[in-house]
Amino acid sequence: MADVYSKSSGMRPDGNVGTKRVRERDKRNYRHIEVRPYAPNLGAEIRGLDLAEGVNAEQFEEIHHAYLDNQILFFKEQSPIPPDIHVAIAKMFGELHFHPAAPGKDGYPEIFEIHAHAKSKIANGEFWHSDVSCDEIPPLGTMLQIHILPESGGDTMFADSYAAWETLSEPLRDMLDGLHGIHESEHIYRGRYSDRGMEDEGKVYPSALHPLARTHPETGRKALYVNRAFTTGIAELEPDESAAILAMLLEHAEKVEFQIRFRWEKNDMAFWDNRCAMHRALWDYWPAERKGNRVTIKGDRPV
Ligand code: SIN
Repeated sequence: MADVYSKSSGMRPDGNVGTKRVRERDKRNYRHIEVRPYAPNLGAEIRGLDLAEGVNAEQFEEIHHAYLDNQILFFKEQSPIPPDIHVAIAKMFGELHFHPAAPGKDGYPEIFEIHAHAKSKIANGEFWHSDVSCDEIPPLGTMLQIHILPESGGDTMFADSYAAWETLSEPLRDMLDGLHGIHESEHIYRGRYSDRGMEDEGKVYPSALHPLARTHPETGRKALYVNRAFTTGIAELEPDESAAILAMLLEHAEKVEFQIRFRWEKNDMAFWDNRCAMHRALWDYWPAERKGNRVTIKGDRPV
């Protein structure tokens, strides 16, 4: 019974205790960027480069390494990144993703303007999600630079989906591995951007089935791939089973122990990995304004 962890100590076979875990970070000596853990569980701050000047091959290699190791990078002490440079940096990681519902920025269809103000009907990302998980091939990652911030508030929360998978008990993981989440978007996107001139009569919004346990194509680690915004059920289960188990998984994935909360400073850029992290943006600053540019990179079909 080596795999059964002690009920009295809560110690698991991997040495973690319940949802309390020690995060091992790579010991790499970075030479072209400065990398500091953001919190014990997740994320890193990056300093020592000005993204507005672009990214060279050495910096790219280190950013890529830090990204895989930390899941979310916060680039500090930045100046506004010109849109063409923002797009060019994102393209170093892969082909770009075009949002199925939101309008592109004038002259830059690849840029999605994140903007909420006194007259907004919605603000983006208010529920825990992995970006556009309703797509057959959902985004690898997202780069968001915020240029206009409220005096306070407008933080973004992130949660570690590797930790969510790895802290489920082994019998439950065995049961879930091989099942698929139903990811839909009609309920979110229909009419959402009408105030930005997007008519959607007759439009069909994406939906897809994705494994509940998603293997990250670059790290080989498994992450729990469900989120409150897009995941509406578990395909192989009866409706009442699906509703109960999905509710339990969503609550588990959103546990405080897996989260960080990022307080933005003007021109910070966040780069998150949608394959192994979720996020949630707080709209607690109405009627103040918050604005930035978001570029999203296309990923792989989840397996
Ligand atoms: C989003 O892309 O989900 C919005 C994130 C944010 O505004 O912080």
